[in-house]
Amino acid sequence: MAFAAQNNRDLGERRYRDALVSELFGNVTDSILQVMDLTALVAPDPDVTKSDIVISGEELIRQPSYDAYRDHVARLWGLARDAVLICAYDCPPVNLPPGAFYFEPITRTLARLPNLTECSVVGKHRDLCYVLARKRPHTGHARDLSPDDFNLMSAVTDHPLLLRQVVDTARERLGFFPAQLPRAIEYPWVLASLPQNLAGWALADVGAGVNPVPLQLAERGAAVYTVDGHHQRRDLPDQAAWNEWGFLDYSSLDKRITSFQCPFEEWSSPARLDCIYSISVIEHVPARTRRRWIQLFAAQLRAGGVLLLTMDLFAETSLLRNFSEGMAIETESEHGDLSAVVDEVRHAGFEVGECWVKRNVPRSRVDTAFLRAVRRGPEPNLV
Ligand SMILES: C[S@@+](CC[C@H](N)C(=O)[O-])C[C@H]1O[C@@H](n2cnc3c(N)ncnc32)[C@H](O)[C@@H]1O
Repeated sequence: MAFAAQNNRDLGERRYRDALVSELFGNVTDSILQVMDLTALVAPDPDVTKSDIVISGEELIRQPSYDAYRDHVARLWGLARDAVLICAYDCPPVNLPPGAFYFEPITRTLARLPNLTECSVVGKHRDLCYVLARKRPHTGHARDLSPDDFNLMSAVTDHPLLLRQVVDTARERLGFFPAQLPRAIEYPWVLASLPQNLAGWALADVGAGVNPVPLQLAERGAAVYTVDGHHQRRDLPDQAAWNEWGFLDYSSLDKRITSFQCPFEEWSSPARLDCIYSISVIEHVPARTRRRWIQLFAAQLRAGGVLLLTMDLFAETSLLRNFSEGMAIETESEHGDLSAVVDEVRHAGFEVGECWVKRNVPRSRVDTAFLRAVRRGPEPNLV
């Protein structure tokens, strides 16, 4: 992959940008082919050829007129084969530094570019925004998130950089990122709730189905166990027909992951776990099974271990959705609500540190609950 980059004059800004670039693209210093200066951008230089990714410095905010600003953006865009990471204002800055100018939100400018597919604000440092704009076309997978929905959800999640990364991982490794919009909030939340370095950690994904989170956590150094009881095996040759339900043997994608095809209530963990997470699964099992699961979570986690749950609720209520694959599994009153889950988790020996509901998720019929709890001591016996 070829990169072209402009340098930032402000050192703090440059450090922030370099950290962001390494998060997004790895260590690119060796692959930067051209460091372009303003002259090269303004007066097209035959030596400056196209790059896969163009990383812009703060030159854009130094353009003295709206025309010069738009030309600069167009020139950066023209030089990029795939993407531009641009540093600019997305709202009027409180303090405009000497020699800097603001004309309009950068995301509005970028939205008018030809061939733009996905665009998200992946970082903010003081008044400046870092926007990653892409030309890459949609994968064509029937279940893959559309570019419009990606753009929409990037503005909704609290973790747009993690969303960008997990969408890329999902598409590269699984062929799709689920076009189920709450997932664009749930996966980044799980990833943000765990340390960056997971060396020595053992984690379990309960009801993993087909999702990119185990792959990203294995990349962080964790041993990951996935458990899913679905009868349908997801085999690589059929990837075009996958959705997020089913049993995938993740070890075929990453040897740090071990996958078990069985109901979680019948699973014995091979190790004491540091974290158990379950994304949009526990609301799909009957309340009796849920209570058994919560006891198992407490038994399998070490003292201080972390439990992360996300759950679908009926919109504008705290009622757990009582459906699994389109069928009601029990009555709503038998199934219970979010406060019942919180009580069950506390009663099983957890401290609930976070519990909140995301309402009004775009293009979704459900609201989503997020629960983070920590296993109180002493060390439990494995069951
Ligand atoms: C809605 S999908 C969610 C998949 C994945 N967690 C995700 O984030 O997209 C629910 C998954 O839970 C699995 N599941 C349901 N009941 C289960 C059980 N008792 N034990 C293990 N997995 C179960 C299903 O097979 C399905 O793959």
